[in-house]
Amino acid sequence: MQRLLTGIQSSGTLHIGNYFGALKPFVEMYPSYESFLMVADYHSLTSLKDSSAVRESIFNTVKDYIAVGVSPEDVVIFKQSDILEHTELAWIFDCLVTVPFLMQAHAYKDKVAKGLEANAGLFTYPMLMAADILLYDADVVPVGEDQRQHIEYAREAAAKFNNAYGETFKEPREYINKAVATVPGTDGKKMSKSYGNTIPLFGTKDEIAKAAMSILTDSSGESPENVYNIHRLLRSEIDLAPIYKANKGNYKASKEALIEDLEAFIAPMRYVRENISDTDVANILREGSEHARAIAEKKMIDVRQKVGVTL
Ligand code: TYM
Repeated sequence: MQRLLTGIQSSGTLHIGNYFGALKPFVEMYPSYESFLMVADYHSLTSLKDSSAVRESIFNTVKDYIAVGVSPEDVVIFKQSDILEHTELAWIFDCLVTVPFLMQAHAYKDKVAKGLEANAGLFTYPMLMAADILLYDADVVPVGEDQRQHIEYAREAAAKFNNAYGETFKEPREYINKAVATVPGTDGKKMSKSYGNTIPLFGTKDEIAKAAMSILTDSSGESPENVYNIHRLLRSEIDLAPIYKANKGNYKASKEALIEDLEAFIAPMRYVRENISDTDVANILREGSEHARAIAEKKMIDVRQKVGVTL
């Protein structure tokens, strides 16, 4: 059986971009694979500095995973920081790639261009992500378009290591669903935590309505493009055509229709989520991390030997 693996940074509340770009494809694909779903808590330290926010986000991310339909019985749900081999392998990859190579990473370049603080963790983050994937010999990694380059970096890290030390790592391939590769935010640009343009996946009805009402509309058109581009994630174009025809020029009505559809889609998942306790999360992570650790430890015994640090 091929292996499927993906992860999300636990750096705040998940938004519908995370859901349509990564979680939904993961949920649809995981029954056909041996599947792993990671909480990227060490990646979150590139932006979060408050320990209680870090802790809370870990609990929330696992609850979100279960609420969207990931069964801990069928999927290994684990926390990156529980498996020390991730940061260990990331260091080895750091020593194989060059600074100019890492400087090409879009995620890093975009943050720097926006004047955000670039800590060294942000700079080397693609190698930690490469370790996340390569330790488990993952075949397929479902992600949104913004992570495509990071999967290329993982392939590059695998190739560099294999070249230097002999065949060890499998080169993974990304799975990106074209239709939802880049979910737009309330301003029409890519939905992103760092742009403040998100619609929260598990917000209250009021929070979701507030975000949807804030979608930027251009008064010159008949149909509000930014509203439509989010709405089409929830309903087929055939379904939407009569709604947008009837609401021509009335942007508020289109937003209200979107809010209703968002609520209908989120409410059942919100209900599931409310019944997951912190203790449930701790138990799921303990089991998942045990399973993941056994695989990662075995892989690293081979890696340490190959690089020469095992005497
Ligand atoms: P992160 O936490 O920023 O995003 C998690 C997933 O959501 C997708 N995504 C989107 N998809 C479509 N439209 C959007 N607007 C949108 N915004 C986010 C992302 O593409 C991603 O798939 N470094 C990763 C986390 C990570 C990881 C891994 C992923 C760490 N290790 C190993 C896969 C495998 C990140 O920061 O994603």
